[in-house]
Amino acid sequence: MGSFNILVLPGDGIGPEVTGAAQQVLNAVAAKWGHTLTYATDLVGGSAIDAYGTPLRDETVAAACSADAVLFGAVGGPKWDNADVRPEAAILGLRKGMGVYANIRPVKAYPGLEGSSPLRPEVVAGTDLIIVRELTGGVYYGKPKRRWTTSRGRRGVDTMLYTEKEIVRILRVGFELARGRRKKLTSVDKANVLESSRVWREIAIELGREYPDVELDHQLADSCAMLLIQKPTSYDVLVTANLFGDILSDEAAVLTASLGMLPSASLAGTPNAGDGRRRKMRGFYEPIHGSAPDIAGSGKANPIAAVLSAGFMLEYSLGLREEAAAVRTAVETALADGHRTADLASPGTEFSTTQHMTDAIIERL
Ligand code: IPM
Ligand code: MG
Repeated sequence: MGSFNILVLPGDGIGPEVTGAAQQVLNAVAAKWGHTLTYATDLVGGSAIDAYGTPLRDETVAAACSADAVLFGAVGGPKWDNADVRPEAAILGLRKGMGVYANIRPVKAYPGLEGSSPLRPEVVAGTDLIIVRELTGGVYYGKPKRRWTTSRGRRGVDTMLYTEKEIVRILRVGFELARGRRKKLTSVDKANVLESSRVWREIAIELGREYPDVELDHQLADSCAMLLIQKPTSYDVLVTANLFGDILSDEAAVLTASLGMLPSASLAGTPNAGDGRRRKMRGFYEPIHGSAPDIAGSGKANPIAAVLSAGFMLEYSLGLREEAAAVRTAVETALADGHRTADLASPGTEFSTTQHMTDAIIERL
């Protein structure tokens, strides 16, 4: 029986609804297995801009670093689109502040949901891959990063910079995860154009010698984008830079029928190392979907991405494997039993509200 401190950062739009759902599931787990979960909560994103004039306060970052884990909802909305500092700066600041450089985004086609994807069921069936996205470097953070005005008009610059240290540590996460699965690692880059990608590929080849049991291949980001929806079952683990991972993971969401299904864990190391050792590590857990302001408060939000993110938290940060597996199974069973949130239901049919789906998951724990 453990006792854990969790910082909840609901954010904006549907953020509070989905983190609320995830907390209900966590509470049910805690009650069943006799754990004590203590929550602190804080404003981030647009709601923090309204209250404090900044999307992310220093004390929030400090609280995130001292908590056992952080559960994050989503930030942003039309209200703050023209703010000096955008709500999204909260996510970027937290990722960097916590040093969680490894973003793990699993993409799984759930039996029974193949029909909800716009792709053909026979293409999607059996998809089970993980995107490992570098999260605290690359063009998101590289300097110079600024905009200015010249006599010939406006200009903007972002810098795609990767150091050897950043590349090695994220590739290791990819290799280790692949080692614990089907032993196939696809390193995705743009080495035909970008210097940072050429360094990345060179290091991947060198590091690959340390993992002879893992089959390593290299794909260019553009052709990977095509192959990912053409032959998704050919992938096991993909490892890639911040920007490519951002784009490919939204694309991959189409394979699971809805962005509302995809959880993520952001960590400062490798979870579940192939050596069989289990580490507990600080982590940042968020659904990959956004704040969806258009459906906020309507009961249409799919809580599954947030609930599965909480499941990841149980496993990676709290070291509770059995409980994490129970959450995953409960989600799968709720889906198998026909529960469908608005994003998954066929148009015109009845759907489960956010709370109905949450209850359905909790009943099956
Ligand atoms: C994501 C999101 C974020 C990103 C945005 C909201 C800053 O798209 O987590 O994928 O680009 O990383
Ligand atoms: Mg994204």
